[in-house]
Amino acid sequence: MTSLILVTGGTGTLGRHVVPLLREAGRDVRVLSRRAHEAAGGVEYVTGDLLKDEGIEAAVAGAGVIVHCAGGRKGDDAAARNLVRAASRAGTPHLVFISVVGADRIPVVSAADRAMFGYFGFKLAAEQVVAGSGLPWTTLRATQFHDLILMVAQQMARLPVIPVPAGFRFQPVDAGEVADRLVELALGTPAGLAPDMAGPRVYTVPGLLHPYLRARGKRRPMVPVPLPGKAAHAVRAGANLAPERAVGRRTWEDFLAERVLSRA
Ligand SMILES: NC(=O)c1ccc[n+]([C@@H]2O[C@H](COP(=O)([O-])OP(=O)(O)OC[C@H]3O[C@@H](n4cnc5c(N)ncnc54)[C@H](OP(=O)(O)O)[C@@H]3O)[C@@H](O)[C@H]2O)c1
Repeated sequence: MTSLILVTGGTGTLGRHVVPLLREAGRDVRVLSRRAHEAAGGVEYVTGDLLKDEGIEAAVAGAGVIVHCAGGRKGDDAAARNLVRAASRAGTPHLVFISVVGADRIPVVSAADRAMFGYFGFKLAAEQVVAGSGLPWTTLRATQFHDLILMVAQQMARLPVIPVPAGFRFQPVDAGEVADRLVELALGTPAGLAPDMAGPRVYTVPGLLHPYLRARGKRRPMVPVPLPGKAAHAVRAGANLAPERAVGRRTWEDFLAERVLSRA
């Protein structure tokens, strides 16, 4: 097997952790990005777009492993299809995919489901593309990264009153720890669907927001808002959680201490 590893999304929150870990493991790394980048630190870049089906052939050429971290709010299934098509033409690389806990349990049926939880439907469809690709594959489902929760908390804190989805809970995980696991899987033999990866604690939404607001020296009233639809119902029932797979070590509070308090 060739030692070259392609990382799609190598410029993103997760991918930025994955790339140096692969380099430390002594692997040649290529990153696919929609923007041009200078090669640096032994990492080569190919410019392309998975949704527009551009530049993928050049990205996959000679790769023995593809760590597919590229993703967005929409269209991860189409991106996976384009990637699989090019990868299958180029050889039989091990395709390693990052998905989300609950992709198989959060039903995206109605317009309300699609508007709020369409992402989970795209991730499930992308998982099916990967599993049905005919390539050796591994998929890891992770819960929300701390970085995502922080971004949402920052946006919500701008409001004078914060609407809180009633009954929702989250189990955020550290993106660096997910990267460690993804790299372990990428350097191993294809595992199919790997056990889920979730953070160490389950939080209510106010339980996530309060420590953030405290760290920023802010106070905000919160108003619970019941959300309609089957997907929201599934989330209230905990479909986005994996308490039995609370393998992450870094807590939300640890993350805030480093990212918010130390910079205050
Ligand atoms: N964030 C979470 O809480 C979470 C939880 C579970 C699973 N995941 C999954 O983990 C993956 C990475 O998430 P993240 O938070 O690291 O994402 P992110 O920070 O938003 O980064 C997205 C990455 O995808 C690339 N990308 C987006 N559209 C692309 C396209 N059309 N063609 C090529 N590359 C494209 C971007 O590269 P350029 O901008 O350089 O083109 C960027 O590197 C995603 O698949 C996501 O669904 C995320």
